[in-house]
Amino acid sequence: MDRQATIEAIERIDRDHRTLSRLFDKLQDALVAGRDDGTIETARQAMLGHLDAHIAFEEELMAARDYPLTFTHKEQHQAFRDQVASILAGIETRTVSVNNVAKLLKKTHAFHTKYSDETLCLYMRDKYAFHAVADGLGI
Ligand SMILES: [Fe+2]
Ligand SMILES: [Fe+2]
Repeated sequence: MDRQATIEAIERIDRDHRTLSRLFDKLQDALVAGRDDGTIETARQAMLGHLDAHIAFEEELMAARDYPLTFTHKEQHQAFRDQVASILAGIETRTVSVNNVAKLLKKTHAFHTKYSDETLCLYMRDKYAFHAVADGLGI
């Protein structure tokens, strides 16, 4: 794993987070506009598919880089998934207003990125992108 691969992995994480946020908005837009079930389901699946791919990417990265907080981060991924599922279920039971869907999803996502993903990215920057170069390891 070289320095460039580390920088690209961190960039992908940031890019994925922005994409996920846009997919939250698209889901809410479809709900608020009262689109047909097929359109809403497409938006829901696009968001969930991206979420799955993103979490898989982070977890593969943690394994490849011997990340010491992997266990906790994976637990937090499950908590995040559970909260997303709970918000989506709330739409069905009408305990979540369609006008608040994106805001709720973004809040729970922001909590995860702040307390888990930022730490992962800091670790990767320190261990693989900067200190290793300063230590003369040539990566
Ligand atoms: Fe994460
Ligand atoms: Fe993430």
